[in-house]
Amino acid sequence: MISVVLVAGASSGVGLETARALARRGHQVYGTSRSADRVDIPGVRPLALEIGDEGSVRACVDHVLARHGRLDALVYSVGFYVAGAVEETSDELALAQLRAYLLGAHHLVRAVLPAMRGQGGGRLVLMSSTAAVAAIPFHAIYSASKAALNHYAEALRYEVAPFGVRVACVEATSVRTGAAAAMRESDPIPGYEPVRTRVIERFRRLQLDGPSPLPVADGIVRAVEARRMRPLYRIGTQARTLPWLRALLPYPVFRRFYARFFHVSPG
Ligand SMILES: NC(=O)c1ccc[n+]([C@@H]2O[C@H](COP(=O)([O-])OP(=O)(O)OC[C@H]3O[C@@H](n4cnc5c(N)ncnc54)[C@H](OP(=O)(O)O)[C@@H]3O)[C@@H](O)[C@H]2O)c1
Repeated sequence: MISVVLVAGASSGVGLETARALARRGHQVYGTSRSADRVDIPGVRPLALEIGDEGSVRACVDHVLARHGRLDALVYSVGFYVAGAVEETSDELALAQLRAYLLGAHHLVRAVLPAMRGQGGGRLVLMSSTAAVAAIPFHAIYSASKAALNHYAEALRYEVAPFGVRVACVEATSVRTGAAAAMRESDPIPGYEPVRTRVIERFRRLQLDGPSPLPVADGIVRAVEARRMRPLYRIGTQARTLPWLRALLPYPVFRRFYARFFHVSPG
């Protein structure tokens, strides 16, 4: 069945590939960027969206609803990374990070829900991360916002199920996108050198040298089209393995394993 889908964050990375894949499958796809002209995908209609601006969110959703009278699925793939030690991260950066991953999703979810409830169903697909399962050192606000997003989705799922609205989180292995380039680092404090630089570089390399985001996009398409959408999609070996390791290993063992991976002290 052809769906009307809004992909937030479609100018790059996971969102771009998802919008492209959905359009190829014949769905009516709207893709957003802060500058609509950055969304240049055949079959995808570009829309401007600044996630921190409620007026922009409203205008974006209203545009789709005015055209189609319905919105079947929202894919939330907006993001950028804040990296640095907690002590180095300004309140302003922390807020921007929470806005991108949690409050931004909240703005859009609230904007689309009246239509989805009214039409008797819809799908909300929110990009989470393995950072929700195990926090990444020197990415505390990023990790916290993804863990918060997972809980947000869990609570929301119970609330909207009676209206036929389904909610899924997607946890994906590191993939090659524009995210590493869009990373914002905080104000450096010399005491955190050289560990901070090493860890941030390791995380950045996981993405720069990672696989293409195509399998993640395919997973999201499957979620949008599934007869019964699952609450959680884990895509990629790392995304599937990490939760098991976290659940099965005693915490001190897991912590030592994870700390060794990032070359930090397990604390
Ligand atoms: N890359 C990975 O390895 C990976 C792994 C797991 C999960 N994820 C998750 O996947 C999602 C997408 O990440 P990605 O790697 O695909 O990132 P990306 O390539 O940098 O794309 C991010 C998208 O977000 C948009 N965006 C950024 N700030 C915005 C704002 N304030 N308002 C509206 N749109 C904004 C960007 O559009 P403009 O800049 O054009 O406005 C862009 O389209 C994130 O939630 C990320 O945590 C990524």
